[in-house]
Amino acid sequence: MFRKTVDTLNEFIIERQADFPYAKGELSRLLTHIALAAKVVNREVNRAGLVDILGATGDVNVQGENVQKLDDFANAKFALALKGSSECCGIVTEESDEIIKFDTDMAKDGKYIVCIDPLDGSSNIDVNVSIGTIFSIYRRISKRGHIAQIEDFLQEGTKQVAAGYIIYGSSTMMVYTTGRGINGFTLDPSIGEFCLSHRNIQIPLNGYIISVNEGNYKQFCPGVRKYIDYCKEIDEETNRPYTARYIGSLVADFHRNLLKGGIFMYPPTKKHTQGKLRIVYEANPVAFLVEQAGGVAVDHDGRRILDIKPDDLHQRVPLYIGSRNMVETLLEFLEKNEE
Ligand code: AHG
Ligand code: MN
Ligand code: MN
Repeated sequence: MFRKTVDTLNEFIIERQADFPYAKGELSRLLTHIALAAKVVNREVNRAGLVDILGATGDVNVQGENVQKLDDFANAKFALALKGSSECCGIVTEESDEIIKFDTDMAKDGKYIVCIDPLDGSSNIDVNVSIGTIFSIYRRISKRGHIAQIEDFLQEGTKQVAAGYIIYGSSTMMVYTTGRGINGFTLDPSIGEFCLSHRNIQIPLNGYIISVNEGNYKQFCPGVRKYIDYCKEIDEETNRPYTARYIGSLVADFHRNLLKGGIFMYPPTKKHTQGKLRIVYEANPVAFLVEQAGGVAVDHDGRRILDIKPDDLHQRVPLYIGSRNMVETLLEFLEKNEE
C-alpha cells in the first residue's frame, strides 16, 4: 500500500491554512510564490561560480554598500514573483530606497505587503559561504484596490502575519512561521521540492555559542565587552568557555543558533551607531521566528524588537537574539554597566 512519507512545503502550507478558519488561501499563495522564487535564486546561487553573474555591478545600494550581481538577480526574481502572486500590493527591499508599489489591478487588490532582504550575507557570495533571503509579510493598512502606502510598511513587528528565511547553504532550506510555531523544509534537488525536515523547531533555552563580529570589540560598550569576556571564562558548571562562531550572514548565523542554541549580537559601533541590521526586513522577521521557537530578541535598551515602531524603511537597530537564558544574562550585563 502507498504510504506517504514526505510532506512537501506546498502541501504543508495548504494543510496549515485550516488553522485559520477565515483564510481564503491568499497567504498560502503568497508563500508558495516566495518558495518558487527561492528555487530560482537557489539555482543561480549554485551556479554563481560558473557564470558571469559573479562579482560587483559597480552600483552602490541605498545603504552605501557595493551591490553584487546576485543581489540584483535575487531582488528582481522575488519582486517579479510577488507582483505576479496577485496577493501583494507592494514591497520594500534592501535594494531600493523607496517602496515598490505594484500598479496592476490584481496587485492593487492584494491584501498583503512584503518586506525582503533578497540576498543576505552578500559579501560571502564570492567565497562560497552560506547566504540567504529574509522575508516578512504584513496585512496592509491602506484600502484594498488602491496603491500601497508607506504606513503599510512601517508597522510594528508584532503585526507580522508570516516571516521566514531561505538559507542557501550545504543544503537549501526554507524556514517560516505564520505565528503557530516554526517549521523548516529542506530542498530536495532531485525532485525540486522543499520537504518538511524540521518540525516545530524550538531553540534551546541555554545555548553555548556566541556570534558577534569581535573585530569591533573595542567599539562595543562596556556591558557588551564584559559579557563577551564572561563567555570566555572557564567555568565547568555553566559550560564556559562558550564556542565562538561568526559567519557574517545573519541568516546563516541565526539558523545555526536556532538549531543548536546560542546568541547573535550586532551591537552599536562607531560606524553603525544603531547597529548594522535593518529592522524592517532583517531584525523583525528573525525576531518573530525566534519568539515562535521560544527565544528572545531585544535591542540595546532591552526593548523587545517586535514592539518597536519603525519610522524609516531602512532604519537600523542593535540586535541581540537567541536562547532565552543567554539573552537574559547579556541584559544583566548591559544594565549593570550602563554608561
Ligand atoms: P547584507 O548582505 O544583506 O547587506 O547583510 C549583511 C549583514 C548580515 O547578514 C550580517 O549579519 C552582517 O551584515 C555582517 O556584518 P559585519 O561584516 O559588519 O560583521
Ligand atoms: Mn542582510
Ligand atoms: Mn542583502
